[in-house]
Amino acid sequence: MEDALGSIEAPGLDLLGPMGPDIARLFTRPVSVLHRASELYTARVCLLLLLDLGWEARLRAGLALEEACSGLPDQARKPLAWMLPFLAAEGLLEQRGPDYLLRGEPDLDLAGLRAEVAREAPGHDVNFDLLDGVRARIRPFFTEGKPGEGLLFDLSLFPLWLSYFRNENLVYLPNNLLALLALRESLPEQARVLELGAGAGSFAQLVANQGAREGWLSKIAEYRFTDVAPTFLRRAQRELKAAAPGLPLAFQALDLNRPLAAQNIEPAGLDAIVGINVIHVAQNLQGTLRDLRSHLKPGGRLVMGECVKPALGQPLYLEFFFTFIRSFTDVELDEEWRPVHGFLTPEAWEKALRHAGFREVAFLPPPRPLMDRFPSFNASGITAWA
Ligand SMILES: C[S@@+](CC[C@H](N)C(=O)[O-])C[C@H]1O[C@@H](n2cnc3c(N)ncnc32)[C@H](O)[C@@H]1O
Repeated sequence: MEDALGSIEAPGLDLLGPMGPDIARLFTRPVSVLHRASELYTARVCLLLLLDLGWEARLRAGLALEEACSGLPDQARKPLAWMLPFLAAEGLLEQRGPDYLLRGEPDLDLAGLRAEVAREAPGHDVNFDLLDGVRARIRPFFTEGKPGEGLLFDLSLFPLWLSYFRNENLVYLPNNLLALLALRESLPEQARVLELGAGAGSFAQLVANQGAREGWLSKIAEYRFTDVAPTFLRRAQRELKAAAPGLPLAFQALDLNRPLAAQNIEPAGLDAIVGINVIHVAQNLQGTLRDLRSHLKPGGRLVMGECVKPALGQPLYLEFFFTFIRSFTDVELDEEWRPVHGFLTPEAWEKALRHAGFREVAFLPPPRPLMDRFPSFNASGITAWA
């Protein structure tokens, strides 16, 4: 294992802050193994995809981003601008000035990585099936200019996404669990909670189950489950009452890119707005954050579960899927308040949230120095007070 995945080390409780005992279960060896294997698997799939496109000779000669993009639809630029540096960071391409070179015969074994994970973190085949699925389906994005959304969220991959967004998935659980612990802190009685982009409902299920076990579920008077996608909403309406018992559910279609007031949400009426892995798709982040703030009661909180990056320019393997999705890449940028699309550093989130008028911003666990020492740990529960 050491040989294939490098050394696997977990942080001590001293790096995890006051809630260390609650979150230590996110730092076990199986989690670290799964992260590292997923990172390697993603890098290998990413290079295999370029080879599938017939680029081996070009890569062996050295290929700069500009050259790579020529003759391709414009939409290929952002994914390639992510893929080439990612492959260099993973040691599968060599960077020389602007050129990326394929040298020798890099290890592109996928089955071996799956076998390691099956031994140490069983039950995660779907994570790798999804990566294989992206490789198998995404080619027309480059060759015919087809939108990534249609290729990656079609009927054949949708069940895999549903299986991925589950609390049993050790690399998906952290955003849910950290946001849950943040929400649980100072939740008032009779709380009105709204979840944005609630999707497959994994966060709502965690709230129901852990809240009942720990005795705080009864503090929630209303849990408004919302999503922009009718498929997710219909599925939740069918299945969530049984899967999240005791949660006082209300359902509503809601798009975070449209003013909440125009979608029948009263101003200053909510104790908490929760968004797990969704707020980074806001087209105008400042506009959305300000709108969300205006719908919180004084003292209410925005609670986010987000992937965070150690540095804005550092590719994170989890971005691979999303570089093909327009809602992730095509957002309004602003040097100060929204410097890049997609995932941000904790510092960039803090700046954006404060500029939008939030008073205090807190991260769970404290992100530095943890993420500098353990770059593969990239989840954060972020709380911002209105
Ligand atoms: C990464 S998933 C998170 C899913 C969910 N938290 C779960 O655990 O199942 C992102 C969700 O955000 C939703 N979404 C995307 N764009 C949105 C928008 N503009 N407004 C509201 N929800 C959106 C998607 O439909 C999807 O369900």
